Amino acid sequence: MSHPDNDQPPPKGHADKHDYWLGLAQYLEWIKPPQETDQSRFGTEATISWYNDGILNMAANCLDRHAAQHGDKTALIGVGNDEGQIRNFSYQDLLAEVICAANVLKKMGIRKGDRVAIFLPTIPEAAIFMLACARIGAVHVVLFGGLSSGALEHRLSDANPSLLITLPKAQRGPKTLDFLSIAQEALGRLQGKRPIAILLIHSDGKTDCTATNITFYETLRQSVPTSCPCAAVSATDPLFILYTSGTTGTPKGIVHSTGGYAVWAHHSFARTFVPEADDIFWSTADVGWITGHSYTVYAPLLHGLTTVLFEGMPTYPTYRRWWDIIASLGVTIFYTAPTALRLLSRSHHGHPSKQDTKSLRLLGSVGEPLDAASWNWFHHYVGHSACPVLDTWWQTETGGIMLSPPAENSMENDPHMGLQPPTELEFALLEENGSEIKGTGIGALCLKASWPGQAIGIWGHEDLFRQLYFRTYPGYYLTGDEAERTPKGYYRLLGRIDDVVNISGHRVSSAEIEECLLANDDIRECAAIGVPHELKGQCIALFVVPDREDLTLESVITRIIREIGSYARPDFVEFCHNLPKTSSGKIARSILKQQILHQNNMTK
Ligand code: WTA
Repeated sequence: MSHPDNDQPPPKGHADKHDYWLGLAQYLEWIKPPQETDQSRFGTEATISWYNDGILNMAANCLDRHAAQHGDKTALIGVGNDEGQIRNFSYQDLLAEVICAANVLKKMGIRKGDRVAIFLPTIPEAAIFMLACARIGAVHVVLFGGLSSGALEHRLSDANPSLLITLPKAQRGPKTLDFLSIAQEALGRLQGKRPIAILLIHSDGKTDCTATNITFYETLRQSVPTSCPCAAVSATDPLFILYTSGTTGTPKGIVHSTGGYAVWAHHSFARTFVPEADDIFWSTADVGWITGHSYTVYAPLLHGLTTVLFEGMPTYPTYRRWWDIIASLGVTIFYTAPTALRLLSRSHHGHPSKQDTKSLRLLGSVGEPLDAASWNWFHHYVGHSACPVLDTWWQTETGGIMLSPPAENSMENDPHMGLQPPTELEFALLEENGSEIKGTGIGALCLKASWPGQAIGIWGHEDLFRQLYFRTYPGYYLTGDEAERTPKGYYRLLGRIDDVVNISGHRVSSAEIEECLLANDDIRECAAIGVPHELKGQCIALFVVPDREDLTLESVITRIIREIGSYARPDFVEFCHNLPKTSSGKIARSILKQQILHQNNMTK
């Protein structure tokens, strides 16, 4: 296994680094190749800028060049929620679909730089519209299918898109999700704002489009041209906005550039997975999260491989669903998340046979710490002790994988060894006072220099971007995670140091939950605390001081589900008369955490 990216010598000095970054850019097709590489500045007035004189088109890199070389090769396999629902798209097919979607967007008045919201499950059309936006230089804003109308409203109001693409309904496992109703409810809540048109795909013909601003995709697509030139997009222009939770109350729209992100998606994939031409890559991540963007859609297509998009759940209709998909499609690289592994490993119905997974050659995990038991189960049962297990660490803000064991000799990995920083990245561990820890130790995980995939901002909140990531420790990018450096210089991730709670790989901030509850005047104060959970990794324990006697537990939970989504549902809720405070009057969160751990006999 080898890939040209991996044959490059590690960069050392400044000139060396410049050449290295330029070298990585050469794997893409540019309309105007860049001469510049890293023009970013860290510090209190940080700006992130990569390849700023380069011009390219992301969709051309994902599709046109591969369609020209191997148009019949399968680019994307869409696997539906129910068994037997498989849709294959060759590079030629996918290109044709993307051209059609791009022309429909144009016909609806979408221009370069406009935002387009995509509220769809993980189905081929999600990737098609993402690529269609990229083709015309529009900025996609994919909204996770599990969001509530309140969460959608916030994101739509913040990103201010001209159009929202959705479908009437979708099945997720045994559940029906009312995409259109949720979208319409969110739009209804956006009173006084610019109206947002809806483009409806997969219409069941029952939707009334006269009363509302709904356009049917199937109708428009009949009358668009069969060609669509790729827009010339500056490397620093945004490719997409993706919302994620951070330390502040409301989720932030992380903005990724076109050029730097494309280079990092391509390179991080090459370095981590060392792909081969006939790989069938399956990332189980939903398109609504960053892994769905970088590794379900963009990176495998940039590499001209076959990617799998699965709409359903690992447990529906049975616990064998994933293994059946791997066996029937011949998946070679499987990238998933610890929560699902914990779920499947604990049910004997969830164990694959050697026959089921014989096509696999590499396993990857992302999103949460991969505990030793899950690592071992993944290695022995899914990989039959023959596939390396790559635990990968990264974030929405990093665009792509930042830490992972090397694919080359990873059969010697074990779950405790930690993740190796690649030589091109300058990681640092900081003490609370901001001094760097040399050698072994535990501290705040930071980076001292930029990399191509680094987010370029928070949509509409330039100063917040600097404040959250660059001002705590001037000169560093603060990841928000704590890590331990091992004697070999590897990193073990220990969890967040801010108030972000990682529930089954979904980021939710305590402040987000508290703000949504305090928006009504029936709660005097409340605290949402992250505590360990056997299956989900972490869950929320909620302490509420009611201001009205008739406040019910159900109404509190319903409010969270309505404003954020059911993934943020608390597992423990306690009503109390008051909350413990520190000497400076802040809620003493550590006391509450200890209390809940003690009550439930939990450790940590
Ligand atoms: C956590 C997901 C431990 C971490 C790609 C990070 C992990 C946050 C790992 C980002 C891992 C991600 N081990 N923790 N391998 N991967 N995390 O933005 O706390 O949804 O900061 O991006 O997930 O979550 P996000």
